[in-house]
Amino acid sequence: MEKTFLMVKPDGVQRNLIGDIVARFEQKGFKLIGAKLMTVSTDLAEKHYAEHKERPFFGELVDFITSGPVFAMVWEGENVVTSARTIMGKTNPSEALPGTIRGDYGINVGKNIIHGSDSLESASREMKLFFNEEELTSYNKQSETWIY
Ligand code: PPS
Repeated sequence: MEKTFLMVKPDGVQRNLIGDIVARFEQKGFKLIGAKLMTVSTDLAEKHYAEHKERPFFGELVDFITSGPVFAMVWEGENVVTSARTIMGKTNPSEALPGTIRGDYGINVGKNIIHGSDSLESASREMKLFFNEEELTSYNKQSETWIY
């Protein structure tokens, strides 16, 4: 089953949105298989955002993601990479539709509440950066019978 890496950014943690965000993915039917509240080091931030190294806002990105605790998660389910991005809404909150996380809570493109992997390859890479194998749990949920 497909897996994706999601992270409530420091603004989402400060604004008490962890519970709401987790609930949205749970209610959709996806399965949480790993989660932790953590502080991102500069080294980890630079690795995580390596593909944006040449962009003018790279420094801002690293400063922001290291500025306070984040809530890192791994979710599992059919097409979860794409579905999670839909639930999150567009990167720029002013373009994100109401009903999406960024559409409901975000204003600013830098402080946009949540990060989600943009492809299967990114998901695999990001998951390994933030979690050890032992931190991810494999289990069955009875409710899955009613979803798949
Ligand atoms: S995406 O989602 O990868 O397609 O979006 P992209 O536009 O490539 O942006 C990549 C990440 O950079 C953040 N971003 C910015 N931060 C600060 N200032 C500006 N102007 C800016 N533009 C984009 C954006 O929120 C993405 O962060 P993540 O954590 O990947 O969502």
